[in-house]
Amino acid sequence: MTSNSASAEPRPESAGSVIPRHVDGTAPRHPVPRHVAIIMDGNGRWAKARGLPRAAGHKAGAEAARKVLRASGEAGVECLTLYAFSSENWRRPEAEINDLMGLLRFYLQSELNSLHREGIRLKIIGDHNAFKPDVAKMIDHAVSKTAANTRMTLAIALNYGARAEIVKAVGRIAGSGADMAQISEEMIDAALDTAELPPLDLLIRTSGEQRLSNFLLWQVAYSEMLFVDTLWPDFGAEALNAALADFAGRERRFGGL
Ligand code: IPE
Ligand code: IPE
Ligand code: MG
Repeated sequence: MTSNSASAEPRPESAGSVIPRHVDGTAPRHPVPRHVAIIMDGNGRWAKARGLPRAAGHKAGAEAARKVLRASGEAGVECLTLYAFSSENWRRPEAEINDLMGLLRFYLQSELNSLHREGIRLKIIGDHNAFKPDVAKMIDHAVSKTAANTRMTLAIALNYGARAEIVKAVGRIAGSGADMAQISEEMIDAALDTAELPPLDLLIRTSGEQRLSNFLLWQVAYSEMLFVDTLWPDFGAEALNAALADFAGRERRFGGL
């Protein structure tokens, strides 16, 4: 038995078993993960293989993100979380960091209206206030402009590190005056940057690396994981749909039978 997707038995709400409808109202054939997160890795190697500068890989990677966002929405995914810049990526050369910030500026400007038109809410996880003030301001503007949208959530992890997120959550709880001897999983869940997002169903990493690189360490406890060799700029709608089909064929047990 590798699949229970055809089973008539209901699965727990948190199992990603909710079958959202497509935008056109038709039901998809398979259970669709409510929340997909992607470690978008391999931009540099993609560029190197073509004799291009790393910046060209990041630009192609941003285009891939655009396509994957659209494909996720069409498939009925409620929330897509993209790891765009880790708290460890500050270790890269300043010129590369500047290229990444330039791309972020460009896409925030060029995509904001279409995100809003398509009913997509933008959420940021991580600490984007460490970015240059103009970028931080653009991000805040995009988040507040799209805050009431309900069709889908795009969460972008910026200057994000999962350990720092957990430390920050515990600090928030302590600062609220809660009795720290009574701390619960629910309290930590609610204090994380991902508090308003659905439970993480599927984590994908591209480029053949099989590590989490400090991404969503708490949230991944019962997620399905998929590691693919495709370099991120080559990942598009087809690869996303293949990942969703793979997810649909998995049996999730959550510790039960
Ligand atoms: C992922 O691609 C993008 C970011 C981390 C910002 P990389 O830049 O890590 O590409 P590789 O891993 O060097 O190929
Ligand atoms: C993880 O990729 C971070 C992002 C995709 C933004 P890295 O390329 O930074 O991860 P490591 O250094 O290979 O672990
Ligand atoms: Mg990398």
